[in-house]
Amino acid sequence: MKIALIGYGKMGKAIERVATARGHDIVLKIDVDNRGEMTKENLSKAEVAIEFTGPSSALENLRRCAETPVPVICGSTGWLKEYSEIENLYKQNGSAFLYASNFSIGVNIFFELNRKLATLMANHPEYAIELKEIHHTQKKDAPSGTAITLAEQIMQAIPSFTHWVNRPGDNASELPILSERVDPAPGTHEIKYQSPIDDIQIIHTAHSREGFASGAVLAAEYIGHKKGIFTMKDVLGF
Ligand SMILES: NC(=O)c1ccc[n+]([C@@H]2O[C@H](COP(=O)([O-])OP(=O)(O)OC[C@H]3O[C@@H](n4cnc5c(N)ncnc54)[C@H](O)[C@@H]3O)[C@@H](O)[C@H]2O)c1
Repeated sequence: MKIALIGYGKMGKAIERVATARGHDIVLKIDVDNRGEMTKENLSKAEVAIEFTGPSSALENLRRCAETPVPVICGSTGWLKEYSEIENLYKQNGSAFLYASNFSIGVNIFFELNRKLATLMANHPEYAIELKEIHHTQKKDAPSGTAITLAEQIMQAIPSFTHWVNRPGDNASELPILSERVDPAPGTHEIKYQSPIDDIQIIHTAHSREGFASGAVLAAEYIGHKKGIFTMKDVLGF
């Protein structure tokens, strides 16, 4: 496939390595110093665009890409309050869009475990929940997009939690997410249910960025010439 990379930082470079190893061509690389090259004409030369820039730039990039027919895979986190606007833009322009807070296959399996465990724990309020995420110090957003996805899954299964907070919880309706920043952690997520009798804990630890990059390339291969809005559940057939 012909791929446009929007954001050529740690993830953009990891995606380039995985994509070229799988026989794809990188036809456009956009970063802050050549943003002027992100024209409709240049974007339209790609069969898919992969956007990994960051919370403050993703929205503008996604809006720009939505002016072209190119399908977009987005891994930037920290912009989700505007998700419905972006979803509508891609539905209206008839192309395709896939956002994942985490592209790693292991994390997507972990999401399924989290959902199942939260459903099992819904009738056991004697267990206190703690959700913790640990990332490198350069990460710009907190909590991580992955932690927000995990929290939303828990809130869906345990409706007594009405919202999440990025600190220890003050009352029973708050689901606490604790964020730690430690180098060189690529990403750890832990969910712990604690009671005086026992604890139940699930942990996912990323060892490198390759898992995110492989998942993003897999998603690009999946979205191909499809139209519509997709998630990693579609890509992985969950
Ligand atoms: N979804 C996932 O699986 C996943 C995995 C890892 C990281 N992330 C997220 O991806 C994003 C990027 O992560 P990273 O580790 O590669 O960060 P990074 O800082 O190493 O790279 C971001 C790159 O984007 C460039 N950039 C910034 N603004 C831009 C703009 N307006 N246009 C074009 N390029 C621009 C920067 O110059 C930089 O080179 C972050 O939001 C991070 O949280 C997501």
